[in-house]
Amino acid sequence: EEAGAARPFWQRLLVVANRLPVSAVRRGEDSWSLDISAGGLVSALLGVKEFEARWIGWAGVNVPDEIGQKALTKALAEKRCIPVFLDEEIVHQYYNGYCNNILWPLFHYLGLPQEDRLATTRSFQSQFAAYKKANQMFADVVNAHYEEGDVVWCHDYHLMYLPECLKKYNTKMKVGWFLHTPFPSSEIHRTLPSRYELLRSVLAADLVGFHTYDYARHFVSACTRILGLEGTPEGVEDQGKLTRVAAFPIGIDSDRFIRALELPQVQEHIKELKERFSGRKVMLGVDRLDMIKGIPQKLLAFEKFLEENPYWRDKVVLLQIAVPTRTDVPEYQKLTSQVHEIVGRINGRFGTLTAVPIHHLDCSLDFHALCALYAVTDVALVTSLRDGMNLVSYEFVACQEAKKGVLILSEFAGAAQSLGAGAILVNPWNITEVAASIGQALNMPAEEREKRHCHNFHHVTEHTAQEWAETFVSELNDTVVEAQLRTSK
Ligand code: G6P
Repeated sequence: EEAGAARPFWQRLLVVANRLPVSAVRRGEDSWSLDISAGGLVSALLGVKEFEARWIGWAGVNVPDEIGQKALTKALAEKRCIPVFLDEEIVHQYYNGYCNNILWPLFHYLGLPQEDRLATTRSFQSQFAAYKKANQMFADVVNAHYEEGDVVWCHDYHLMYLPECLKKYNTKMKVGWFLHTPFPSSEIHRTLPSRYELLRSVLAADLVGFHTYDYARHFVSACTRILGLEGTPEGVEDQGKLTRVAAFPIGIDSDRFIRALELPQVQEHIKELKERFSGRKVMLGVDRLDMIKGIPQKLLAFEKFLEENPYWRDKVVLLQIAVPTRTDVPEYQKLTSQVHEIVGRINGRFGTLTAVPIHHLDCSLDFHALCALYAVTDVALVTSLRDGMNLVSYEFVACQEAKKGVLILSEFAGAAQSLGAGAILVNPWNITEVAASIGQALNMPAEEREKRHCHNFHHVTEHTAQEWAETFVSELNDTVVEAQLRTSK
């Protein structure tokens, strides 16, 4: 740091998320290798010069022994990461159970689990107890590293209980909470047995953020209807204390994608893919293998399209990258088999001795391979049943300056609010409509493609992840200052 450089009082930022942006692999008793995963959040914060981010979260591995914990803590410190160690039982009850089997499906309108789904991880009560315990463990680590003036930014549905824990430690701590998923209608949130406690805790934050105005509105109405509080244009008021609630749509680091396309190895990859699929239009899906992504619905729509359009059968290929995720949760295991079965059936039905209509991959791709794939795609298919934002749609658009391909986008993804004008919006539940949209996209005249692409490209390059993070943090600072002014009046 330069001597004498002006240092705004909010420069240090503690980013708290369930998962640290690194994957850790143990190499020996006291040695670890770390891989930084440059997801949306990481690049968002790397690009922001105004503050220095430190990460607090779970490294995704069980480290039962002290030697291992010490070594990992030391290795992570070099990456500005601070670990929260969760044992296997907590991970099972908190992460697999309460987070991914209860809150995740509920917030995506898939409802609460029935008896059989609950039985796999004991009772709702013990899962919620583990959730609170885990959140308290995160709070302990934050508190141990907190310095006056720091901004604490809590992320996502895993940590809804965190704002309250933090404020109990220190009412002066500046606490923001941002939800990366949808916040559902209050009628859905009402069904959650722990509905009061979670809302109350989130309201302990100074600023509460969502991707879209609708999610923010749902949250405010949950607070008014379930807690009986007052909703104001600024947020939620409880006995004179205001919690500011607002929409902050996330973006991507679009430059990183655009620059990658210039690299020789990416260019080489693009050339290979073009040769491999020459004579065929390329359709692409990139999703975590999650029920909210609507992968079975997408496959059925593609099948219907092939069924109704024999002309296209040997002229189009669907590449579906399905990144395995949360594989310990039974619902995800069932989905994997279901998807494999549908892919097998469609390929059996429409494949030939030399070609199949669907290439399905159960893996993730490295960044450069992904960019190349986005660049050669003619039509991207994002058919989420619900999705907080969906940044795959943004990444695709960023890589399409040369090709100006078409984006088919679910109206239930947050991204529909920003890319709706350029994309073909669909209801993913309506297989007939999606099949028709595939036809429309494949046959779209170049002029219309260009117009739609330009609209979206402009949005994706203007509203970046960096801008999102800066806006959230400066709004959090302003909110705290305003609250101080109000109380000192
Ligand atoms: C979603 C959530 C993130 C989560 C990611 C991957 O995008 O909003 O908080 O990190 O999925 O899921 P995982 O369970 O592997 O962390």
